[in-house]
Amino acid sequence: DAAAGAPAVEAAAPAAPPRAAEPLTIVFASESGNSEKLAGDVAKLARKNGFKPKTVDFADLDVAALGREKRLVVIAATWGEGEPPARAVRAYGELMGEGAPRLDGVKFGVLALGDTSYAEFCAIGKRLDARLAELGAERVLDRVDCDLDFDKPAAEWIKGALKALAPAEPAGNVVAVDFARAAAVDADEAEVSREPVTAEVIEHVNLNSSRSDKETIHLALAFEDGAPAYEPGDSLELYPENDPALVDQILKAAGLEGDAALRQALLAERDITTLSSATIERFVKATGHEEARRLIDNGEVRAWIEGRHLVDLIETYPAKLTAAHLSEITRPLPPRAYSIASSRKEVGDEAHLTIAAVRYETHGRARSGVASVHVADRIRNGAKLKVRVKPNRHFRLPADPATDVIMVGPGTGVAPFRAFVQERRASEAPGRNWLFFGDRHFTHDFLYQLEWQDALEDGSLARIDVAFSRDQPEKIYVQDRLFEHRRQLVDWLDGGAHFYVCGDAKAMAKDVRAAVVRAYADVKALSSEAAEAAVAALEKARRYQQDVY
Ligand code: 2AM
Repeated sequence: DAAAGAPAVEAAAPAAPPRAAEPLTIVFASESGNSEKLAGDVAKLARKNGFKPKTVDFADLDVAALGREKRLVVIAATWGEGEPPARAVRAYGELMGEGAPRLDGVKFGVLALGDTSYAEFCAIGKRLDARLAELGAERVLDRVDCDLDFDKPAAEWIKGALKALAPAEPAGNVVAVDFARAAAVDADEAEVSREPVTAEVIEHVNLNSSRSDKETIHLALAFEDGAPAYEPGDSLELYPENDPALVDQILKAAGLEGDAALRQALLAERDITTLSSATIERFVKATGHEEARRLIDNGEVRAWIEGRHLVDLIETYPAKLTAAHLSEITRPLPPRAYSIASSRKEVGDEAHLTIAAVRYETHGRARSGVASVHVADRIRNGAKLKVRVKPNRHFRLPADPATDVIMVGPGTGVAPFRAFVQERRASEAPGRNWLFFGDRHFTHDFLYQLEWQDALEDGSLARIDVAFSRDQPEKIYVQDRLFEHRRQLVDWLDGGAHFYVCGDAKAMAKDVRAAVVRAYADVKALSSEAAEAAVAALEKARRYQQDVY
């Protein structure tokens, strides 16, 4: 019954599109590329169902013109502690601000992506959803908030959104979302989809000296059937296993030590560290634990989960748990993405990663990053790892090999720049390469020092400037070096250089950007507004790119 908008079950011949394809605008706010990929999925399915879709990056969104859209799909990621993705900051600000246009007559739906291990889960999607309605747009379907395992809920939401946004034609000629074709799209996707492959570890080296307080593993991976296609700038998702000692603590606390199948699931399939409000709620629902319920009733969940993991929950609130409870309470173990540190032009069928072991202590207990410590402690030469390429088309060398590049990568942020330099060396790119590196101590933490020296000698690095933060009483950071060399910096940028930042998103990337603004202001005697506009123009031209985490 097409008039009721029911899906056409059998698609013998491709259904005729409605008289004129209906415009549909899909805007995405993406940091690591997931929202962008989903926007592409929406567009593909929409096209097959009689829409004329257009995808727009928030970075390019003309907010003032948004009221002219008829149908709007918004896919928004939340980054860090409730922030919009870096490229989306401008348009997001405009949309939330006083100058935002009225959106009466616009139909919309919002899909939110986030990570329940952060306090402000899906905050940006939630705010956009509320804001669009406030501006007069009509919400035609409920928002869905996705955690890291977004594939299924997102695919469901997309189908629902296209149905809800389908125009009901007077003749009853409804654009029915064709699930048979939707399945075909899924199959298309599977073809290009980046299936995980198995890699063998052929090199596992600690790049820090043994006296460093850091441990950074250089990992070289080989692939039996050739390395999966990747470009400098892409990441590799790594499927880790949990710490067996932690698995055993959890099994013990739950009274389930004997269950071998459960042990295996907890090792390889479930996220047994992250605690979120949702975990606590599911725990209380599963166990009926009164004391734990009080955390919720008293609004104390947020504060309690800070610095705590699943093991703390089940030790603090002992309850009779079953294997089924444990899988209900936990989410699937997500893969972790690391910037690839090699170029296939130089390393052939290998991929290299630079992984810093994350270790810290909270609430009197030693904690470790799942994937990084798996790699540091339990992976050795010959070990097998499941990995998958995660493309990042927003972190790319300039198309013209003669263009200069400036790379700012303290700590493991240097990884993609090793790939950049390898690529530019192997392809004999004539453009100059300037690297800023920083870490704690020159003698312990100068990652890939010998390689940089070779690169300086063979000309694949024109210049390196380093900031060792703890080798002197006062902190010196990469942004201090940038400002110190501001004349050359602005000179290179005026000459068309591309500027790249990789590493810590919370402080470093912001401080680096601020330093570039100050450099412009100082060198060109600009007001801070004009200098800010100069950097914004670089960003708009995709000449200022970042890969931050
Ligand atoms: P620190 O640990 O001594 O503070 C890589 O981690 C390097 O980045 C370290 O030298 C670290 O210095 C430094 N770092 C810390 N905060 C930074 C910031 N806001 N900007 C740039 N570098 C920073």
